[in-house]
Amino acid sequence: MRLIFRTLFFALFLQFTNCSDKPDKTENSTPPVTPSLKTTYSKDFTIGAAINEAIILQKDTLALKVLKRDFSSITPENIMKWEEIHPVADTFNFDLSDKFVALGEENEMEIIGHTLVWHSQIGPWMNTLTDSTIMAKYIKEHINTVAGRYKGKIHGWDVVNEALNEDGSLRESVFLKVMGDGYLPLAFKQAAEADPEAELYYNDYNMWKPEKREGAVRLVKLVQESGARISGVGMQGHWGLEEPDLAEVEKSILAYAALGVKVMITELDITVLPNPWDMEGAEVSQNFREFEGDEKMNPYASGLPDSVQLKLANRYTDIFKLFLKHKDKISRVTFWGVGDANSWLNGWPIRGRTNYPLLFDREYNRKNIYDSVIGLKTQPNQKLAL
Ligand code: G3I
Repeated sequence: MRLIFRTLFFALFLQFTNCSDKPDKTENSTPPVTPSLKTTYSKDFTIGAAINEAIILQKDTLALKVLKRDFSSITPENIMKWEEIHPVADTFNFDLSDKFVALGEENEMEIIGHTLVWHSQIGPWMNTLTDSTIMAKYIKEHINTVAGRYKGKIHGWDVVNEALNEDGSLRESVFLKVMGDGYLPLAFKQAAEADPEAELYYNDYNMWKPEKREGAVRLVKLVQESGARISGVGMQGHWGLEEPDLAEVEKSILAYAALGVKVMITELDITVLPNPWDMEGAEVSQNFREFEGDEKMNPYASGLPDSVQLKLANRYTDIFKLFLKHKDKISRVTFWGVGDANSWLNGWPIRGRTNYPLLFDREYNRKNIYDSVIGLKTQPNQKLAL
């Protein structure tokens, strides 16, 4: 019965929360102007978005319009990754990263650099190195050249990305194999030298898991005890409708803040689709290609049912309530994309699916969940679910 009421109430909520840009048609009424995300949360934390090449090149004009209206921080989804910006030892490609930084400066946005040292998609030659002195040289040169080029322009760098295993141990990356854990303080010290003004972050996913939380605390302490500067921890928010338990997220926010560093939610999106590892009996080691075209794994190809929209709205509002509770510890919340159409989650872990993880739909209209998130501040007592 509760579900019927909840769904009915949400259907009414959908009916009366006109979230498109179309003006209200009632007589003599000026269409209500929904405040933007960045304005609504300006006193709580910065609202950011990851942007792709089409936005950086200003080809995706709709996305750009939304970006300028609703976001005050930008992160490059891909174009500053090592293999993009430093594909071979003696070559750097700064064309796209220069455009990215210029876009941020033109629009007076907080510019985030992502990411300097990540085991994934590094210059291919790096994976062949076995000598720690040579590896240290390349890491220093990469950081010095890239972070040095944008000195004074980058608000903060994801200096090291995803260096932990799920159990909290250090990932057996080529960096760890060749240099041991010394590559971590080295990266932060070099970044501080290259850009003394930029904030310096450790960024990772599943940072809500207890074991990974303990590993991240050890990693931050290792960097701090080396005398290197670390300003914050980025908790990527690649979450789902049910997982993670927000109580665990809260414990991690508190644990990282207790280290004296800022906490950021750096890659927020919420998948509504089932994943192979959720499926009873799914052999997760199997190639996910086998799930491509499987309707069970792509149930909302023609649209998202109101019942799921309600779940997503409640999930986003629960998450933002937690962020607001800890706004004294959280400096930024960045969405991993602007609109649903270009979310990486349409292609991961299974290609060719239709996901709905962000606050703007495939045509960059504000979704009902956008109004729910705004409503948390403008109508704090709103009841989405009975
Ligand atoms: O640019 C090439 C294009 O020329 C080529 O035709 C095409 C097909 O192969 O690939 C394009 O590159 C892809 C790139 O995204 C840009 O679309 C890469 O193959 C693809 O691997 C890459 O995926 C990105 C992924 O990181 C791996 O770098 C996703 O877009 C991006 O959302 C994702 O973001 C990561 C964060 O950096 C770190 N945290 C996790 C997060 C999600 O995985």
